[in-house]
Amino acid sequence: MIELQDVTKVYEGDVTGVEHINLKIEDGEFVFIVGESGSGKSTLLKLLMRELVPDEGSIIIDGQDITKLRRGKVAELRRNMGIVFQDYRLLSSRTVYENVAFALEVIEVPPKKIQRSVPAALNLVGLAHKAKSLPNGISGGEQQRTAIARAIVNNPHLVLADEPTGNLDPRNSEEIMDVLDAINRRGTTVIVATHDRDIVDEMQKRVIHIENGCIVRDSEEGGYDDED
Ligand SMILES: Nc1ncnc2c1ncn2[C@@H]1O[C@H](COP(=O)(O)OP(=O)(O)OP(=O)(O)O)[C@@H](O)[C@H]1O
Ligand SMILES: [Mg+2]
Repeated sequence: MIELQDVTKVYEGDVTGVEHINLKIEDGEFVFIVGESGSGKSTLLKLLMRELVPDEGSIIIDGQDITKLRRGKVAELRRNMGIVFQDYRLLSSRTVYENVAFALEVIEVPPKKIQRSVPAALNLVGLAHKAKSLPNGISGGEQQRTAIARAIVNNPHLVLADEPTGNLDPRNSEEIMDVLDAINRRGTTVIVATHDRDIVDEMQKRVIHIENGCIVRDSEEGGYDDED
C-alpha cells in the first residue's frame, strides 16, 4: 500500500509543488492523477519515486517511510518500481531487446534470467517481432511500448507513468493504455499522470484531480470531470 500523509513540497522561490496531500492507494489499484499543466502531477510522481523529498509529511510504501530512506536504499526502492516517461528515454544505439535487457544488466541479474525475462516482457507489450529493431526504426507507440517493457521486466510491484501518451496520437495512446491495463490486471499497481481527457474517460478508473498542488477530487471509476 502507498500512503501519503500531509505531504508538502515547495520548490525554490516559494513555488508550490504539492501541498498537504493525503492519499491512500491500495495494492493492485489503477489510478490516474489529472490536472492542468503546473498543478503538481509530476511533483507527486517524483515524490513517489524519491527523486524529490518532501518538506513535510511522510510517504509510506509497503510499510516503509521513503522520505527517511538512506541514500544507499534508494536503488533498492526503485528496483521495485517501473518508471515510464513521456519521452521514452531509450538508448538509441541499442535494439529494442537490448534496451529492455539493459535494465536487468545494470542490476546484475544473471544472464539466464535475462534471456527468459526479456522475451516475456516484449510479448506482454506486443513487440516480440521488433526485438532486433533500433528505436529510430520503430513508431512512437512502439518506442513507448519498449519503454514499458523495460519498466516491467523486473516484475515491479508499482508502475509510475508520467504523461506516457503525451507524444502519441489517439490510436497509439489507446494501445499504451491497453498495455498498462494488462499489467495492472496481473496485479501491479499502476499510477498514471496525464491531462489526456480521452484516455481517462475511456478507462473509467480512479481519478485523483489536483489543482495548485492540492487534491480537489478523488473519484472511483470515473471520467476526467466526474464528481465523486
Ligand atoms: N524544479 C523545479 N523548480 C521550481 N519549480 C518547479 C520545478 N518543477 C516544477 N516546478 C513548479 O511546480 C509546480 C508543479 O509542477 P509539476 O511539474 O508538478 O506540474 P505538472 O502537473 O506535472 O504539469 P505538466 O502537466 O505541465 O507536466 C509548477 O508551478 C512548476 O512550475
Ligand atoms: Mg508534469
